[in-house]
Amino acid sequence: MERNQPIFVPPEGPPLGITPSPEIYAHMGDENIFKMLADFYAELEKTNLRPMFPEDMQEASKKTAAFFVFLLGGPPLYQQKFGAPMMRKRHLPFTITEEARQTWLGCFRLVLKDADIKYSFPKQHLEGFLNFLDKFSRWMVNAA
Ligand code: HEM
Repeated sequence: MERNQPIFVPPEGPPLGITPSPEIYAHMGDENIFKMLADFYAELEKTNLRPMFPEDMQEASKKTAAFFVFLLGGPPLYQQKFGAPMMRKRHLPFTITEEARQTWLGCFRLVLKDADIKYSFPKQHLEGFLNFLDKFSRWMVNAA
C-alpha cells in the first residue's frame, strides 16, 4: 500500500526514558510474549486497521513479537533477523493517524486485561508498559 498524503512529524519528537523494565522478559519468557502478540494481532484483525496488515496475521505477529522480546529485556531476536528497528521509518509506508493509534492502543489494552494470568505479565510493570505503548505509539503517527 503506497501512501500519497504528506508526512506528519509529531512535534514532541521520539520518546525518551520510557524503556519497559527488563524484569518483564525475565518473568514472561519468549513463549508468553509471542502468545501476547498473537492475541494482539487477533484483536487488530477485527478492526478497520485490518487491510494495512499482511494476509497472515499470525505470521505477522511473530515479527512484532521478536521486537517486543528485546524491548522487554530479552535477546535481540528482531535485530538478528531484520536489522535495526527504526520503527518510525518502517511504519512510514502506512498512513497512521491519531485515530489509527487509538484503535491500535485499544487492542493492546484489551489484550493486557488479566495479562498476569494469561501471560505471566508481572503486574507491577503493567503501568510502565502501558505508558511506553502510549508514548511510543505517538511517534508512529505520520498523518494528520
Ligand atoms: C500507532 C499505531 C500503529 C499502527 C497502526 C501500526 C501498524 C503497523 C503495520 C501496518 C505494520 C506492517 C505490518 C506488516 O507488513 O507486517 C506494522 C509493523 C510493525 N509494528 Fe506497528 N503499528 C503501530 C504502532 C506500533 C508500535 C507502537 C510498535 C512498537 C512498540 C509497533 C511495532 C511494530 C513492529 C515491530 C512491526 C514489524 C516491522 C517490520 O516490518 O519489520 N507498531 N505496524
